[in-house]
Amino acid sequence: MKMIAFNGSHRTEGYTAQALDIMLSVARSEGYEVERIELTNLNIGYCKGCKECDNRVGCTQRDDMDGVYEKLTEADHIIIGSPIYMGSETGATKCFLDRLYALLEPKEDGGFSCRLPSGKSYTVVLVCSSSDGHIVYHYLTNRFMRIMMGLLGADDFAAFIVPATSKLENIKESTVFRENLDSFRYRL
Ligand SMILES: Cc1cc2nc3c(=O)[nH]c(=O)nc-3n(C[C@H](O)[C@H](O)[C@H](O)COP(=O)(O)O)c2cc1C
Repeated sequence: MKMIAFNGSHRTEGYTAQALDIMLSVARSEGYEVERIELTNLNIGYCKGCKECDNRVGCTQRDDMDGVYEKLTEADHIIIGSPIYMGSETGATKCFLDRLYALLEPKEDGGFSCRLPSGKSYTVVLVCSSSDGHIVYHYLTNRFMRIMMGLLGADDFAAFIVPATSKLENIKESTVFRENLDSFRYRL
């Protein structure tokens, strides 16, 4: 079983990275082969909206998304971690998400089917400094659910927001994180 975690923060030792490392170590202890990928180290171009991928498999751009598509194909569980910037995921994370469009195949009814193998689990972890961030940014978890369940055909999905990072030395001090880590462990 393989798990990959994408970090959408430039801060490679920041709160998102800490959350991902802890989640990956839990998964490793459950027998997963794990990998953390820094989105900000990759060369990932903006989706250009050419929609060539509507009629062919894959994106017309040749960049580091080539390897990412392969890793997504192989992974059983995919984690996407990002800080919240201006009420949204970071630009690096959004750029990556937009490029997932190349994995979708339009259907005659106007919907999409996903070109990835079925049976995948997704977890989204967002971190932010606002004390009430897990409440005010709830719309983000709904949005990710629509992407993962509605478009990518996830078999299993969970998303959570860790608030108040400015009050934490380490993500482990967050009760919200610890509670969600328990739920994550049960899903493995
Ligand atoms: C450009 C920028 C925008 C931010 N916008 C928000 C925001 O809208 N809401 C919020 O609660 N925190 C916001 N933050 C705080 C980050 O989400 C917070 O510091 C987070 O813990 C950073 O994660 P990291 O340590 O993984 O980089 C912002 C930080 C930056 C640098």
